[in-house]
Amino acid sequence: MPFGFVSAWNKRRRTKSQDHTDPWIYKPVELWQIEDQTGQRPAKRRHGSSVFTLKEMQEATCSFSDDNLLGKGGFGKVYRGTLRSGEVVAIKKMEVPAFKEAEGEREFRVEVDILSRLDHPNLVSLIGYCADGKHRFLVYEYMHNGNLQDHLNGIGERKMDWPSRLKVALGAARGLAYLHSSSAVGIPIVHRDFKSTNVLLNANFEAKISDFGLAKLMPEEQETHVTARVLGTFGYFDPEYTSTGKLTLQSDVYAFGVVLLELLTGRRAVDLNLGPNDQNLVLQVRHILNDRKKLRKVIDTEIARNSYTMESISMFANLASRCVRTDSTERPSMLDCVKELQLIMYTNSRGLGMLLHSFGMI
Ligand SMILES: Nc1ncnc2c1ncn2[C@@H]1O[C@H](COP(=O)(O)OP(=O)(O)OP(=O)(O)O)[C@@H](O)[C@H]1O
Ligand SMILES: [Mg+2]
Repeated sequence: MPFGFVSAWNKRRRTKSQDHTDPWIYKPVELWQIEDQTGQRPAKRRHGSSVFTLKEMQEATCSFSDDNLLGKGGFGKVYRGTLRSGEVVAIKKMEVPAFKEAEGEREFRVEVDILSRLDHPNLVSLIGYCADGKHRFLVYEYMHNGNLQDHLNGIGERKMDWPSRLKVALGAARGLAYLHSSSAVGIPIVHRDFKSTNVLLNANFEAKISDFGLAKLMPEEQETHVTARVLGTFGYFDPEYTSTGKLTLQSDVYAFGVVLLELLTGRRAVDLNLGPNDQNLVLQVRHILNDRKKLRKVIDTEIARNSYTMESISMFANLASRCVRTDSTERPSMLDCVKELQLIMYTNSRGLGMLLHSFGMI
């Protein structure tokens, strides 16, 4: 029955948008009715999202000057901006080729619909959006330390020690656990594009998950959703989802496991510079994750040796190995991951004789 709700809702959305003579007229977020799917009123938001004009977006970014460019992804470029209020933000400008416009528009709407209803310290906040004519912008809280991947093997200067990697893993796990619980919008949400570039870090290196454009609402009784098209990012795909098209909450757990492996090894989820057999991180290390001796060889050499205990490393590797199991029913839930990561953090701090420190972090 909930599945019926979702498809009826999707159908209704399609029909409604066809009612408009101009498909580029964006309806305000309040009119997008998540309650249609759930039969419930959406969770109350702490902050409403503001609506900005194109002029405000231009002013905030000095007309999208390259000096303000933070990065570029599949949706478009991301700029640092300063709003009229003085608030520093990140502004994502939709720039997709004409043949992908409908897809971009759908992602934009899902992002605004879902993210503006979420409120959690480990999810990036959507401050507002701009839908001016054909122009589309998403305005987010600014994350001073950019994305996690850059700190592991990209342009980031500061290498992360083991406790800060554990803190990032725990923060991301909490964000996903919140999405998977019904507390967000009344029903669980699958992120569908969890990866290290979508884990952003604030000034204190606390993790916040971003990019909800591919997210999908997953009513509880509807354990799987069959999709015609597999969406997400190469290297993070749940093998079960790729082979059957069946999307579950456990698809995010697989992607989370890949990010745990990136944190442990400092390697990329997919490295096209390596030979064909070594390109995929999971396939490369999966068989040694429960072998302490071999495990030592894959620990990221950038992690300060005095910041970790082997016990916490093997517990972490064991958790990662269960998250990336091929059979989705054998993977832990995100709530289990949160609990295990707390224990791993405690074990590491205790082993290093830093108990007091650990209480501040857990
Ligand atoms: N809120 C933010 N604060 C600071 N930097 C950000 C913010 N959002 C995005 N960025 C930066 O902009 C880059 C591009 O982001 P974007 O989400 O468009 O692409 P991506 O996640 O790297 O890739 P893809 O489009 O494949 O998902 C990010 O990697 C990050 O470094
Ligand atoms: Mg992103």
